[in-house]
Amino acid sequence: MTGIIKGTGACVPRNTLDNRELEKLVETSDKWIQERTGIQRRHIAAKDTAASMAAKAAKEALAQAKLKPEQMDMILVSTMSSEEVMPSMACRVQDEIGAFRAVCLDLNAACSGFIMAYATACAYIEAGLFQNILVIGSECLSNVTDWSDRGTCILFGDGAGAVVVTAAHGRGTIPVLGSDGTKGEALTLKNRKNQTPFSGPLTKEDLSPCYIRMDGQTVFKFAARKVPEAIEEVLLKNKLRKGDIKYYVLHQANKRIVEAVAKRIGEPAYKFPMNIQEYGNTSSASIPILLWEMQKQNMLHPGDNLVLAGFGGGLTWGAVIITWR
Ligand code: COA
Repeated sequence: MTGIIKGTGACVPRNTLDNRELEKLVETSDKWIQERTGIQRRHIAAKDTAASMAAKAAKEALAQAKLKPEQMDMILVSTMSSEEVMPSMACRVQDEIGAFRAVCLDLNAACSGFIMAYATACAYIEAGLFQNILVIGSECLSNVTDWSDRGTCILFGDGAGAVVVTAAHGRGTIPVLGSDGTKGEALTLKNRKNQTPFSGPLTKEDLSPCYIRMDGQTVFKFAARKVPEAIEEVLLKNKLRKGDIKYYVLHQANKRIVEAVAKRIGEPAYKFPMNIQEYGNTSSASIPILLWEMQKQNMLHPGDNLVLAGFGGGLTWGAVIITWR
């Protein structure tokens, strides 16, 4: 038994913020942002939350899979920007969609989260524990963005993507997943400290709001080296050649990172679909949103092999192979 993707769904906020509008917030320019990142605009939540977007994406994926919420055995949500720590976002989605049989839990591997969650879902299915799993990546990054920091606020956007993974006959593929905690400080989102009877007086820094902080160049170099390595390794482990792969669906963090990966593995740009120009970096939502768009554009056909690859905070990375059915 293995897991196959039966349906995709997505939800992005209606409200968009383009580069020209960002020029009013920080010292930047549309030209700089487009040249360095490929981003033209991002969608920013007004009323939506990460949990509400996750539930909407899940409903669409279920409808496409022609499965009912009560048929779901598990809901696995990848997020690092949930509005609440408890209950989990997966439990919020369960309540909203009525998936009353599902085991629900969240997983945080930053921007690699969707890959990790997808691989986890496949492992449960291959172990024979579950049949139908909703895998969701949902982020409300506008909540954790410092809108006065031009080094980060130009990059991120909000959105959610979901897939239904279902048990099917056949052999599973081997994922490549990795982490390097020694480089954790390159990309952080700290939590605020609370006063306790034991903490002593809190400093001004302890009480200040917490935002994403990033050493952009370190992350860029890491991604441009690690993602090609992970792709080569996942192909080797699964005895596939580059000619067997229709598309490489990469985490949408920066157009230049995607181009650098394509160049390094010697594959043509057309095999690397991108939508970063429209959404910016939506962290663990970017891969399922891109898959959803590719499906809507009729780019995916039965038998197509895809490599999905992500990277991000932790630092973490991962690559999986899926065969579209
Ligand atoms: N607008 C205009 N200028 C900016 C700017 C902005 N939004 N942000 C930074 N700059 C300036 C810097 O201050 C610096 O100026 P200086 O030369 O006078 O010091 C100059 O532009 C170059 O900065 P640098 O950080 O070297 O730019 P870069 O080419 O590395 O691009 C990123 C910055 C963030 C776009 C790039 O490093 C990146 O994309 N990194 C990966 C980030 C990522 O993907 N993170 C998420 C991973 S999941």
